[in-house]
Amino acid sequence: MYDYSGDVAVVTGAAHGIGRNIAERLVAEGCKVALWDVDATGLEALAVKLREQGAMVSVGKVDVSDLEAVREAAAKASSELGASPSVLINGAGIGQVASILDGTPEDFDYTMRVNVRGTYNCCHTIVPMMTKNGGGRIINIASWFGKSGRPMSLAYCASKFALIGMTQSMALDLAKFGIRVNAVCPGTITNTRMREQADAEAIAKGLPPAAERVHLIPLGRLGQPQDIANVVAFLISDQASYMTGQSINVTGGLWMN
Ligand SMILES: NC(=O)c1ccc[n+]([C@@H]2O[C@H](COP(=O)([O-])OP(=O)(O)OC[C@H]3O[C@@H](n4cnc5c(N)ncnc54)[C@H](O)[C@@H]3O)[C@@H](O)[C@H]2O)c1
Repeated sequence: MYDYSGDVAVVTGAAHGIGRNIAERLVAEGCKVALWDVDATGLEALAVKLREQGAMVSVGKVDVSDLEAVREAAAKASSELGASPSVLINGAGIGQVASILDGTPEDFDYTMRVNVRGTYNCCHTIVPMMTKNGGGRIINIASWFGKSGRPMSLAYCASKFALIGMTQSMALDLAKFGIRVNAVCPGTITNTRMREQADAEAIAKGLPPAAERVHLIPLGRLGQPQDIANVVAFLISDQASYMTGQSINVTGGLWMN
């Protein structure tokens, strides 16, 4: 549907769930992709599958909260894929089902370090490469929890609100360099590790898992990782060349603001 054969993309959180689907989608559109994640086993399994399909991919076992590791991974990706990244998808993320009453300061710091500082680290490293090359596209995977405070999600909400602020601020600063920055705000997406973990934590705390909340979703189903990949593929295409600083809900109608 799109042609990304001239692009090199970095996808963080690529070993599972939404990031994995985005990586697969970009490869299917001809993109060269650097797969970044902390899970080396998951990354290798995906890389083997994609290389069998003829894709050019680079694997980076990297903790995005570690700036030095991100710098090393960016240099490795550029050298293995023959060019520096023109697309950055910040998909790596974590979360806990916890409020101010039962969450820990350590979990709060960890969430902010991965979700916010990790995104900062990747942008801080890759944006100068994009400015040098005359442009690029950045997509931050935020959440509808970044638009409305939700119960039992204190650190996660704080981190996702921050990502939307960063998206808007970077969009303003980077437009003159030909870099578009947008966020995608998924709703309740199934078939991901985070969803499995959130459901387990919810059940342990006597709260309903996602499947029992489907009736709240106007389109009547949970989202799939592909639903997010479809919107990401559009946002990095020229079809979205007049869009920057936007935070697009992909929630089946669950959230409309
Ligand atoms: N699943 C949902 O309902 C949902 C809803 C809204 C937003 N999101 C967001 O989508 C993104 C992807 O989540 P998912 O649901 O696919 O979960 P997932 O757990 O399946 O995928 C997240 C990936 O990030 C990786 N990761 C975690 N910490 C990392 C780190 N420090 N450095 C590098 N990689 C790291 C994990 O290993 C995993 O592969 C996250 O940012 C999440 O907040 C998910």
